[in-house]
Amino acid sequence: MTDARTALVTGAARGIGAATARRLARDGYRVAALDLREEDAETTAAAIRADGGDALAVGADVGDEDAVVQAVAHVARTLGPPTVLVNNAGILRDNLLFKMSTADFDDVLRVHLRGAFLVSRAVQAHQVEARWGRVVNLSSTSALGNRGQANYAAAKAGMQGFTKTLAIELGPFGVTVNAVAPGFVETEMTRAVAERVGVPFEDLLAAEAKAVPVRRVGQPEDIAAAVSFFASEEAGFVSGQVLYVAGGPRG
Ligand SMILES: NC(=O)c1ccc[n+]([C@@H]2O[C@H](COP(=O)([O-])OP(=O)(O)OC[C@H]3O[C@@H](n4cnc5c(N)ncnc54)[C@H](O)[C@@H]3O)[C@@H](O)[C@H]2O)c1
Repeated sequence: MTDARTALVTGAARGIGAATARRLARDGYRVAALDLREEDAETTAAAIRADGGDALAVGADVGDEDAVVQAVAHVARTLGPPTVLVNNAGILRDNLLFKMSTADFDDVLRVHLRGAFLVSRAVQAHQVEARWGRVVNLSSTSALGNRGQANYAAAKAGMQGFTKTLAIELGPFGVTVNAVAPGFVETEMTRAVAERVGVPFEDLLAAEAKAVPVRRVGQPEDIAAAVSFFASEEAGFVSGQVLYVAGGPRG
């Protein structure tokens, strides 16, 4: 494992981030699983170690500049310089525009956009030094517009512009930057949506599956597989792209 590269996955305590951390560990990376609370991230790190991988749990808020700088330095010291980064941490604060508070708008942009900016800026120093790197950002089909998600849609569309710009700036250093834009994926995030609108989660899953061409909702592993491709050595000529992983376009 000593020659293995180090991957940093944010929001890795559960859901898509946890599945991605486990997948990258199976792909041979050492994995830093970062989440708000170290003890939550440790669940993922422990599962990776139980599978024979090498993992570190890190607690940090991706929107906190000092915490991010310290966390990335800690990862570099403990696991090795992170050259693969998955900007996955995210929150929802859904509401119709006329009811959306300024705090709900700011909080969503802070975690998704400011968070991706801060972590990417800290990690790029290691990537540029290594003359190799991969950044994968989590966008969403909501980037195309979704009722009740003015804040989230703006953040996820912003992730796409951020992705393309980083691809241009970091490409000369051997770093590719791409985005994965999932459709509806079964996680705690979408379970919370069901709770908020007062619909049993199973009913929401069934309704969503009906609207998807492949007639099922996504699983975290579906998204992890796409991230794994972008992170791979063989994807070195693919950069600045957005891959929609949504079971097909909405009809
Ligand atoms: N689930 C879906 O249907 C779906 C669809 C499209 C895009 N996405 C995106 O995929 C990503 C993961 O979604 P998920 O469904 O697994 O969500 P989730 O809510 O299950 O997990 C998100 C994780 O991010 C962490 N997190 C939140 N704020 C943080 C912060 N400030 N600093 C560090 N960690 C923080 C949470 O603690 C949590 O562990 C998000 O960016 C989300 O917007 C999800």
